[in-house]
Amino acid sequence: MHHKFEYVFANEQETIAWATGLASALKTGDVLAFSGELGVGKSVLSRAVMRALGVQDEVIPSPTYAIIQEYHGVVSGGNACRIAHMDWYRLDGEDDADMLGIREFFTPPWICLIEWAEQAQGLLPSSVLHIHLSYVHGDIKKRQLCLSGITAKHYAASMANS
Ligand SMILES: Nc1ncnc2c1ncn2[C@@H]1O[C@H](COP(=O)(O)OP(=O)(O)OP(=O)(O)O)[C@@H](O)[C@H]1O
Ligand SMILES: [Mg+2]
Repeated sequence: MHHKFEYVFANEQETIAWATGLASALKTGDVLAFSGELGVGKSVLSRAVMRALGVQDEVIPSPTYAIIQEYHGVVSGGNACRIAHMDWYRLDGEDDADMLGIREFFTPPWICLIEWAEQAQGLLPSSVLHIHLSYVHGDIKKRQLCLSGITAKHYAASMANS
């Protein structure tokens, strides 16, 4: 059965705190797909996950033009990981993505974060964790987050226990 888990954040700090908690539950081979409207906070979320994984770079540029940016990080427990940060906004269908050899980043030692994954849903692995962010009417700082996918229950439980 597929479960959905919902969270509400009053401001950016709460969004970042949630992402930090998620990061501590991640392991290599995990793939996170961030979706939601323009400017809703997909990059805020992914940067917070990456910082929590120890990415030191002062600026984490948006990978919109490069499509993939690669980093070194550390998972909880202390083992090294690689991080692939992608933005599929400019991808032109699934053939394009396939040419980039994207699947390599879905296996250890990688943790893969994908913004605008809806551009090529068919390329995502079945274990992908979907993270959908939406605006909450009437409050410009408030966001709702929905976690879904076959692994969502596992992540939700890990976060609740940490
Ligand atoms: N609760 C919140 N969580 C996250 N961001 C928030 C929140 N409240 C306000 N913001 C603001 O919303 C903006 C989110 O920008 P961000 O670049 O992360 O969006 P995005 O979804 O990646 O956009 P794009 O689709 O253009 O890449 C930031 O300016 C941030 O300060
Ligand atoms: Mg973005």
